[in-house]
Amino acid sequence: MTEEAFMGLAKEMRLGAKMLGLRATVRALAAAGDPVAKVLGLRALDDPYPLYEKIRERGELSRHPLGLHLTAKHSVVSSVLRDPRFRVEPAVDHVGVDWNIHPGDETRLRHPMEHSLLTMNPPRHTALRALVAPWFTPRALRDREERIEKIVDDFLDQAVYRASFDLVGDFAVRVPTKVVCDLFGIPDDRHADFSRWGSVLAGTLDGIRTLGERHAVRKALAQMTEFFDELILLRRKNPGDDVISGLVRAELDGQPLHRDDVVALAGLLFVAGYETTVNLIGGGALNLLSDPAQKQRLLDDPSTARGVVEEVLRVEPPVQFTLRFTREPLTLCGKQLPADSPVVLLLAAANRDPEVFVDPHRFDAERPNSREHLSFSAGIHFCLGAGLARMEAEIALRRLFQRIPGLHLAGPIRYKRTRNIRGMTTMPVSARMAPVT
Ligand code: HEM
Repeated sequence: MTEEAFMGLAKEMRLGAKMLGLRATVRALAAAGDPVAKVLGLRALDDPYPLYEKIRERGELSRHPLGLHLTAKHSVVSSVLRDPRFRVEPAVDHVGVDWNIHPGDETRLRHPMEHSLLTMNPPRHTALRALVAPWFTPRALRDREERIEKIVDDFLDQAVYRASFDLVGDFAVRVPTKVVCDLFGIPDDRHADFSRWGSVLAGTLDGIRTLGERHAVRKALAQMTEFFDELILLRRKNPGDDVISGLVRAELDGQPLHRDDVVALAGLLFVAGYETTVNLIGGGALNLLSDPAQKQRLLDDPSTARGVVEEVLRVEPPVQFTLRFTREPLTLCGKQLPADSPVVLLLAAANRDPEVFVDPHRFDAERPNSREHLSFSAGIHFCLGAGLARMEAEIALRRLFQRIPGLHLAGPIRYKRTRNIRGMTTMPVSARMAPVT
């Protein structure tokens, strides 16, 4: 064995041991009934919401033996997200996860969660965010609306004639993949690759827990990075009106944007925009399938899709929590927090804060203040793709039920094993009535 290979193996083993150690602590706490360990732990949760209520009962800001503070209170979550005395961390390692991929790969491969806008602070964050923001303005989104309608209809053209299909795998997954590929100007024959990379990377958005996951992520990242490298070269020669062309033309501090930044931004847009939107479309469809009156309202008045999407975002947020660190010693909710203290912001719990939302656990598509949810975060990291996600989900739900009004659930639903990124993996459905073309 070469020295390099030996060092690599030793590093893998150290990481493995670290993961096992932290995992054992979290598992022991979860087994003892600790709601925080269950929320942040490794086991998939069919229903995390009762656990958030237990955390809420501990007060507006509670301290946990894992070395964290947590809050479920809407006003606290919202103010921390907007408070410049808090920062994000380049590598999130609060529950025994590690983003490093493989010895030597750090220079070439990056998990899209690492060194991305999400894990970057000003001033670099501000400068890089400004480079991609133009593709997400209301005007840019209006220009994409027709294309998104066509993408949705093309999938439904295939689905309407099938007696049954998987609403997640055959529809909810495909729409955002194609929308992001369209944004990048990627040809149809590479969409399947993107779906595959997306599902591997999305499965590890909570962090990489096992060595098997690390290998799968490494493979997906290596292929995706190679693809982006080729695409960058292609766009340098033949620029178009897509995001990648825009980024290769862009400058930062008077210099062309570095290839690493282009790859990182593209990777983040793909991963952040893919899995979350899948979950929003899936959650919206499930809601409409379970509530015939709401479905009828949507069929009678397609504009009600907006209220459904907003309320699904509030009640079933695709991103359940996020994390911030104090930059300096400060007082929060009467508690002294030293510098570098991690604070877990439970977005999903804040969305059900009874001080803001009346009867918070009830789904109500006509709720006047659904939009006060924090599912897209707030402050400088407010989701760049919020408008796009809303538009995709509204179009997808509207067209799905217009084209297949008799759609109904036809089998057990399964949830993903990730806890922060919440959504379904399968939702078997079938159509009772003749499709409408
Ligand atoms: C339902 C769909 C979506 C949800 C629930 C969602 C949620 C979020 C959340 C919670 C954050 C901030 C996390 C934090 O503050 O720590 C975020 C950031 C981000 N999202 Fe989304 N997202 C969605 C769709 C999209 C789409 C479609 C795109 C783009 C194609 C996108 C691109 C981004 C980017 C680039 C950031 C980083 C912003 C920054 O750090 O400045 N997201 N998203």
